[in-house]
Amino acid sequence: MKANIGIGEKQRDSLGTILNALLADEFVIYVKTRRFHWNVVGPDFGELHKFFESQYEALDEIVDEVAERARALDAISAGSLQEFLKLTRLKEQAGKNHDAGGMLAALLADHETVIRSLRKDLETAAKLGDAGTNDFLTGLMEQHEKMAWMLRSYLR
Ligand SMILES: [Fe+2]
Repeated sequence: MKANIGIGEKQRDSLGTILNALLADEFVIYVKTRRFHWNVVGPDFGELHKFFESQYEALDEIVDEVAERARALDAISAGSLQEFLKLTRLKEQAGKNHDAGGMLAALLADHETVIRSLRKDLETAAKLGDAGTNDFLTGLMEQHEKMAWMLRSYLR
């Protein structure tokens, strides 16, 4: 059954496109953060291993919330690695083995890219008459800003 929530089908389609691109970005950062949790080495191993775990746990929840926001607007959520790689604006950097500082910098750059996308997308959501997605994306941007701050704080 179609959603009858006061947002037109065309608008909901556009919002679905925005949310699926975001979902792909979130999934790529999630996987990258897990990879760094597994592969980090050096004197700060214990600290960074745990820190990356706390970040991928938060990202795991974000991934779920973004996909379910798309569903609430009647959009089909992307859900395959192929789709995510096609939709993401981020680079996966498969096989690239950073040192600890490089891992932190790579994640920081990805979070900052997502923050910049979100800043545009939340305005688009408002223009499309979707106060709910505008609010959702604003909250998400704040979460990413906090995660980016934590990553940035390890770097000088
Ligand atoms: Fe683990």
